[in-house]
Parts: sequence; C-alpha cells; structure tokens
Amino acid sequence: VSREEEKRLVGEAAAELVEAGMRVGLGTGSTVSYLLRALARRQLKADYVASSPRTEHEARSLGLSIESFENFDDLDLAIDGADQISSDGWLIKGGGGAHTREKIIAAASQRFVVIVDSSKLVDVLHVPVPVELQRFGIETTLRQIAPTELRGDETSPDGGLLADYLGPIGVYQELAQWLCATPGVVEHGLFPPSLVTDILSGTGKTVVRTTTGGTR
Ligand code: 5RP
Repeated sequence: VSREEEKRLVGEAAAELVEAGMRVGLGTGSTVSYLLRALARRQLKADYVASSPRTEHEARSLGLSIESFENFDDLDLAIDGADQISSDGWLIKGGGGAHTREKIIAAASQRFVVIVDSSKLVDVLHVPVPVELQRFGIETTLRQIAPTELRGDETSPDGGLLADYLGPIGVYQELAQWLCATPGVVEHGLFPPSLVTDILSGTGKTVVRTTTGGTR
C-alpha cells in the first residue's frame, strides 16, 4: 500500500467525524486534500474555516462553504496533517508554511484530529522545525535562533517569512518556549500533545485511531 493510499484512507476516515451543523477547521497539505474531496462527497451542511489560501481555494472549488474565521469564536472540530508525530504525541508542522494559522485553528477547536500516513510516525522529533518570522529585523532574529535557514522569499498568508530551525532539539517544551520567547518569531511548528485530541494514522490498509484526550 502506497503512502498516497494511506493518506486517502485517513482523509476519508476523518471526513466521517464531521456532522451537519458543525463548525470545522481545515488544515493544509496533501493529506488534507483527500479529506476535502471526501467531505465534498458527503454534501453536509457544515461551516468550514480554512487555514490557508490553498485549502480555501481547493475547498471552494469542490463546493464546500468556507467562512471567515473572524465570524467564529470557537470551532467544534479541526482536522489537519503533520510532518512528524513523536511517540509521546508532539507534532512538527509547517512543512507547507501554514503552521501559524493551523495552530490558531487547533487551539480554537474542541477537538483537534491529526491525520497522517505511516511515514510521519517517528520515535523522536528531528529538524527542520518550521518557523514564521517577522521581516522587520530578520537578520537579528535569524542570529538569535541560529542555525535557522530562510526558505528564500517564501511568505505565509499573513506576510511572515518562512524559515527552518536546524539546531539541536533537546527537550521539546524547552525548545518551544525558547522559540516563542524570541522577539521576531511569529510562531513555530512544534505542537504540544495537549493541543491534540485524536490521531488517525494510516498503516497499510488500516487506519489506527489514537485518542490522546488533549485537554483545553
Ligand atoms: C502545513 C502542514 C501540513 O499539515 C504538513 O506539512 C503535512 O503535509 P502533507 O499532508 O502534504 O504531508 O503542517 O503547514
């Protein structure tokens, strides 16, 4: 079974979690693309919020109704992919550069479901850790969180520059706190287990469901 097939299976399984009337946050990426197609086939009347222009465009072209996130103060459910999930439930996200909006959506949602193929399951997280940085003072911010490499002129939908932290990872919580505490860092791609309520991972033809029960 290919990785694409695993992505399709978890995307379709996650689409079954959506019920009519729900307010649902949609992540970004190739796994989320399968989710969007499965949601479109279900033709539910639900309100969707997109974490990126890519998802917004893709969802609208499939006929899903995308609302502005300024209209909701919370969400029932959010579903998103990840670049890595460690054995203790930490995520690295932002390979697609959308992690700032994705984290806002995840934190706003009663339930945050992560959908991944088996290649994303790791024992220990490894670099790169994506970061979004303010353009103002970029060289000093890069120096403070060195070694960090800019992804050229790639920007987030909110205008921040995207970069990858390539240094030691150590204790996840400490790295997360250090990155957050550095002026000029808008957001980093480390998501703590407390943000995540469910993981759906594709392993061959099976979807493995883990309820992590993140509390918020
Ligand atoms: C984007 C993300 C994506 O969820 C992550 O990169 C996984 O993408 P894919 O489903 O294409 O493997 O965090 O910011």
